[in-house]
Amino acid sequence: MKDIYILGIESSCDETSASIVKNGTIEISTVVSSQIDIHKTYGGVVPEIASRHHVKNITIVLEECLEKAHLTMNDIDAIAITYGPGLIGSLLIGLEAAKTLAFIYQKPLIPVHHIAGHIYANSLVKELEFPLLAVVVSGGHTELVEMQDHYKFKKLGGTLDDAIGECYDKVARVIGLEYPGGPKLDNLAEKGTITYKLPIPLKDDSYNFSFSGLKSAVINLVHNEEQRGHTINKEDLAASFQNTAIQAITSKVKKAIVDRNIKHVILAGGVAANKGLRKAMEDLTSSLNVDFSVPPFKYCTDNATMIASAGFYAYKDGRRADLRLNSKSQDELK
Ligand code: KG4
Ligand code: ZN
Repeated sequence: MKDIYILGIESSCDETSASIVKNGTIEISTVVSSQIDIHKTYGGVVPEIASRHHVKNITIVLEECLEKAHLTMNDIDAIAITYGPGLIGSLLIGLEAAKTLAFIYQKPLIPVHHIAGHIYANSLVKELEFPLLAVVVSGGHTELVEMQDHYKFKKLGGTLDDAIGECYDKVARVIGLEYPGGPKLDNLAEKGTITYKLPIPLKDDSYNFSFSGLKSAVINLVHNEEQRGHTINKEDLAASFQNTAIQAITSKVKKAIVDRNIKHVILAGGVAANKGLRKAMEDLTSSLNVDFSVPPFKYCTDNATMIASAGFYAYKDGRRADLRLNSKSQDELK
């Protein structure tokens, strides 16, 4: 079989990234330009500022990626682009770059859903086995997705309100941690003991999640303790919160594995970097005798390597877009 080189482009939030992946699984080169330090000052991503930085970065990132790979656009078979979901202004910058390259070099344009990218970050480390359960945990998503084959997605359930990453970041802010607080909260949790009692959200029979109640419970607890003149033990609160959030995820994952006869479970999205969640998922899957994989840290947060990998399977699935392709701030994975 002829080798297929996909150029992936990702700009859905605050990372401008380009990557070239061979045959869906071999990373040739990746460049990620992160804006975290810029948005830190504001306590979160400011969409307009993010778009302006994407404009500044996109051509530099693309050039550097091709240079690092020692390839030219003529070696590229297709261009995979995150068309959504995400911040509309940010998405549009990557999309316009992808469309321009596709037009000039007459290459197929492959539309990739951002979550498909997070899922396929796993295929860079382990071959996917089906039926597969993708546990998608990011700043914008918390979903259980079943796959019977490559690029066949079926959403089993999702969050009814906040995403888990959003909840982590908000709780982190309440205890004084800088944006993005998720990883800092994870580190703090390692040092703490589970002492604070928090409600496990949505203990029902569905595959859905809810995190806004847990977030409010932490905020109320902190305020009540402050009013009483008590000092919060941040490590213990982080450990208690993390334990509750993880239980909310693993209980639904367990049900899905059993009900849907799952063979392979994968973690996907920024929160897949969470050490507590990784450990809990490893324990759960080994007790149920199913395969488990999680991307290395560098593939957990937003990057174009995962988009190029997903793009390869979308390409094989015959998915193509023309130059009328538009960005979508929201869209179901299908
Ligand atoms: O997937 P991602 O890069 O962006 C979205 O598509 O949303 O995920 C970013 C989210 C942020 O909310 C960040 O705080 C969270 O992932 N995150 C973590 C950890 N590392 C990143 N949350 C908890 N523990 C971590 N170790
Ligand atoms: Zn993401």
